[in-house]
Amino acid sequence: MAVEKDKVVGWIALSHTLSRATYSGSVEVRIYVDDSFKQKGIGYKLMQEIIRIAPKKGIWSLYAAIFSINVVSIKFHEKWGFRKIRYRERIDKDKFGKW
Ligand SMILES: CC(C)(COP(=O)(O)OP(=O)(O)OC[C@H]1O[C@@H](n2cnc3c(N)ncnc32)[C@H](O)[C@@H]1OP(=O)(O)O)[C@@H](O)C(=O)NCCC(=O)NCCS
Repeated sequence: MAVEKDKVVGWIALSHTLSRATYSGSVEVRIYVDDSFKQKGIGYKLMQEIIRIAPKKGIWSLYAAIFSINVVSIKFHEKWGFRKIRYRERIDKDKFGKW
């Protein structure tokens, strides 16, 4: 977590989305920075730290699932060397049941 004046202004989390043991070192990364604290380098510091720690925790691969309209996040991840490797469909429905 990134904290400023006792307020959480950003967080980063890793989670296993694949249950087989063979994938244990491959995890999804999710990162969020509070709107009022964006573009101040907080996301950069969070990602830098997770990349530093990950190998020590047995993690060899990070991946992110990002909506194609989320251009900022795609740019952010590309800056860290993430590449687009897959396009997924029928992932998310809105409250009206629309894909
Ligand atoms: C993506 C996100 C985490 C970036 O956090 P941030 O603290 O604003 O990013 P930083 O200030 O550390 O910027 C690091 C780099 O990201 C890219 N970036 C960040 N904001 C950007 C913007 N508005 N437009 C273009 N590139 C941007 C730039 O390459 C930037 O490097 P630079 O400043 O040297 O150009 C933040 O925008 C966010 O929380 N988005 C909503 C949540 C989300 O989409 N999460 C990803 C899905 S899991």
